[in-house]
Amino acid sequence: MFATQLFRRSFSSSVAMHGKKVAVLGAAGGIGQPLSLLLKLNPLVSELSLYDIVNTPGVAADLSHINTPAKVTGHKGAESLGEALTGSDVIVIPAGVPRKPGMTRDDLFNTNANIVKTLAEGAAKYAPKAHLLIISNPVNSTVPIVAEVLKKHGVFDPARLFGVTSLDVVRASTFVAAIKGKNPEDVHVHVVGGHSGVTILPLLSQTGIKFTQDEIEKLTHRIQYGGDEVVKAKDGTGSATLSMAQAGARFTNSLLKALEGQKGIVEPTFVFSPVAQKEGADFFATNVELGTGGVAKIHPVGPMSDYEQKLYAEAVVELKKNIAKGVQFVKGA
Ligand code: NAI
Repeated sequence: MFATQLFRRSFSSSVAMHGKKVAVLGAAGGIGQPLSLLLKLNPLVSELSLYDIVNTPGVAADLSHINTPAKVTGHKGAESLGEALTGSDVIVIPAGVPRKPGMTRDDLFNTNANIVKTLAEGAAKYAPKAHLLIISNPVNSTVPIVAEVLKKHGVFDPARLFGVTSLDVVRASTFVAAIKGKNPEDVHVHVVGGHSGVTILPLLSQTGIKFTQDEIEKLTHRIQYGGDEVVKAKDGTGSATLSMAQAGARFTNSLLKALEGQKGIVEPTFVFSPVAQKEGADFFATNVELGTGGVAKIHPVGPMSDYEQKLYAEAVVELKKNIAKGVQFVKGA
């Protein structure tokens, strides 16, 4: 009995010592709720701070009954952004409107750019040392927006800003595994570039799996436009939420493990990167090794087939435009 109590006490104090405060902004949304659920189950989270402009008290009360150590707090409305963010180690941002059928991610720019800018200003003010994980679309532009806001506040650290592109990699594994009869968990596809349409570049030639050219072209297209399948099936009620929550929780978990000092953790993510800077794109997604300070090592694109090189060139042209649009939104304001 005594031993059990002692174990419980030392377990909870070690969680409190090592766990991190994670804030989710947009926590009442289609992604925010399942993402918050998955983070509540994560033993590396000691405090889960849920912020939205609606419904967070209910979501927080509900999640707080789950018997895991993470303490859950709910914060509703702009006046509570400060208390939601203060002390956060990691801030995950899925706030903003999702796509409806026929929309591109860029069509979300006007609404989401303002939302993300406001939240980034909050992060700069209340949690300037936090790691920022941006899910809100268009990621190719919202990440540069956050960077510019942080620069304006003198707190930009490129090692702590991430565009979450994990869902492209999750989808790539699933789609490749489906046509090759493999376990999707055993299929690893390096997806580089950005997070929309032609900027999503799956490097199937690096998988070690043999494909016909027809398979390559069909798979590439499906990975680039996989999000549209969900938007169409949801028929006007939103875009990917459950698969995105899983992908976002996976990335957050990898970062939390790296912040704890675990080595060799590599995730694809859209970061301030030298990889395509000579072509004029300051942000680019490749595999990135994570460490105690965030980005530890940015992997190169690696070898590409002739077909992939052609797509790479197209991706960079579009990506540059998306990045410039985000930068201009803040600089021109
Ligand atoms: P949703 O509409 O279900 O939820 C968005 C939430 O954001 C709502 O609860 C809303 O109240 C909240 N919100 C709006 N303005 C806010 C503000 N100023 N501050 C805080 N919260 C605010 O949308 P869903 O499906 O959760 O998608 C969210 C975003 O994630 C969209 O921009 C979507 O395009 C993007 N997304 C990104 C993916 C990726 O791979 N990076 C994949 C799927 C979606």
